[in-house]
Amino acid sequence: MKKSVTILLAVLMVLSFAACASGNEPAGTPSETETESLQPSETMNGAADSTSAEPNQEPAGSPKESQEPTGSKILVAYFSATNNTEGVAQKLADGLGADLYEITPEQPYTDADLDYGNSGSRSSVEMDDPSARPAISGSVENMAQYDVVFIGYPIWWGEAPRIMSTFIESYDFSGKTLAAFCTSASSGFGNSDSALRSAASGAVWLTGHRFSAGANSDEVMEWANGLEIS
Ligand SMILES: Cc1cc2nc3c(=O)[nH]c(=O)nc-3n(C[C@H](O)[C@H](O)[C@H](O)COP(=O)(O)O)c2cc1C
Repeated sequence: MKKSVTILLAVLMVLSFAACASGNEPAGTPSETETESLQPSETMNGAADSTSAEPNQEPAGSPKESQEPTGSKILVAYFSATNNTEGVAQKLADGLGADLYEITPEQPYTDADLDYGNSGSRSSVEMDDPSARPAISGSVENMAQYDVVFIGYPIWWGEAPRIMSTFIESYDFSGKTLAAFCTSASSGFGNSDSALRSAASGAVWLTGHRFSAGANSDEVMEWANGLEIS
């Protein structure tokens, strides 16, 4: 009798161990499934594009900045009455990956205004008066963000048009790097940026350059690259 009770107890113990062991398996299986279900999305994020992982770690709204080189942020600002300087400014901005800003007169210059053969024309009167400051329509958005500003204009009577003085006096260029460029019929660059340099004496001014109206990108970028802007 004792022997059969012992056998019965032994059988019961074996059965209860088996039940415990089989009970652990169902509990473990979902957690394994959960782990597997996370892996594909993690793998997709990482494998789709190795660079995509970085912007995901940046704070929202800043991925563009984080992809830009750590170098200078550049603006090309220009005035152009008959589009010659505009063409050079566009090539410069394209080549440098810079922002482009057109200095637009509040009152546009007509052909009569640009008649340098007439001493009474608007341009002649303005250039006869060093204190003339033709008004500009609009403004550069957040000038503070730029480290380097290229400043383009047509030569008028050997100088930068007075509207360029309006522009330069409208912002604080202290600590920025500036470089002027111009287009002309034949005049050289000369001292055409001297009034601008005086008005922004807290800036570092690089050597300016004169281009012909039809200057190509190679010519423009040869000058810009020679300035060795970081
Ligand atoms: C009022 C006025 C004065 C100018 N004075 C000169 C000058 O002194 N020397 C010169 O070579 N070209 C002179 N030009 C020609 C312009 O500098 C040239 O056509 C320039 O490329 C025009 O640029 P824009 O099309 O961007 O306005 C003058 C043009 C104007 C309208």
